[in-house]
Amino acid sequence: MSINLVRLDPVGDDHEALVDFMTRNEFPFHSNPRLTGEAVKAAIANGAYWSEDNDSFWIDYAERGRIGFLRLEDLGDPTPMFDLRLDEGFRGRGLGVEAVQAATQHVFTTLLDVNRFEGQTREDNIAMRKTFLRCGWVKEAHYREGWPVEGSKPVASVAYSILRRDWETGQTTTFVWEDLSI
Ligand SMILES: CC(C)(COP(=O)(O)OP(=O)(O)OC[C@H]1O[C@@H](n2cnc3c(N)ncnc32)[C@H](O)[C@@H]1OP(=O)(O)O)[C@@H](O)C(=O)NCCC(=O)NCCS
Repeated sequence: MSINLVRLDPVGDDHEALVDFMTRNEFPFHSNPRLTGEAVKAAIANGAYWSEDNDSFWIDYAERGRIGFLRLEDLGDPTPMFDLRLDEGFRGRGLGVEAVQAATQHVFTTLLDVNRFEGQTREDNIAMRKTFLRCGWVKEAHYREGWPVEGSKPVASVAYSILRRDWETGQTTTFVWEDLSI
């Protein structure tokens, strides 16, 4: 794999670079697409990037250098989640697939009690949804009007996951969506 996840220190060595990354880039499918420095610093102080539940990493790519940021969330739960943000200059090249694969490998090789890894995104974040599917993740929920959008109608929130056994075998197992008749 060409990707290396480098644990970052949001209150120490990586503080300025993290604030710079979060404020320099736009994240159109996040609740807050344009973060201010004050907001990022407050989130850092509140443990949003580094706490018992959260851990943050730079995503370094062999030939390209630093291409983005990954946060693992809900690390105290049986099903951790993640937040992936590629630098604007590295989007649209399919690098999200390798980033999700690296995150999945990290979770299943370091958190031995974890058997599920989950992610959610907005229904209109097609790039992220295709990335999930290309990584063998399975759509498990479509929360209609579940994602509030400021100044607009809410959109659906879509949830995907991968099981440890699917990651081990490379075989995506699925289920019957409508398994009950009325
Ligand atoms: C979401 C993200 C990780 C996806 O990674 P990526 O490698 O940049 O994904 P790409 O832009 O290459 O898109 C993947 C595929 O979706 C397709 N796609 C993207 N937007 C599309 C659209 N609106 N309609 C149809 N297809 C679309 C791309 O064409 C590509 O398919 P292709 O390889 O056949 O051309 C990255 O864009 C990113 O970090 N975005 C900002 C943060 C974010 O939204 N994170 C998700 C929160 S979990």
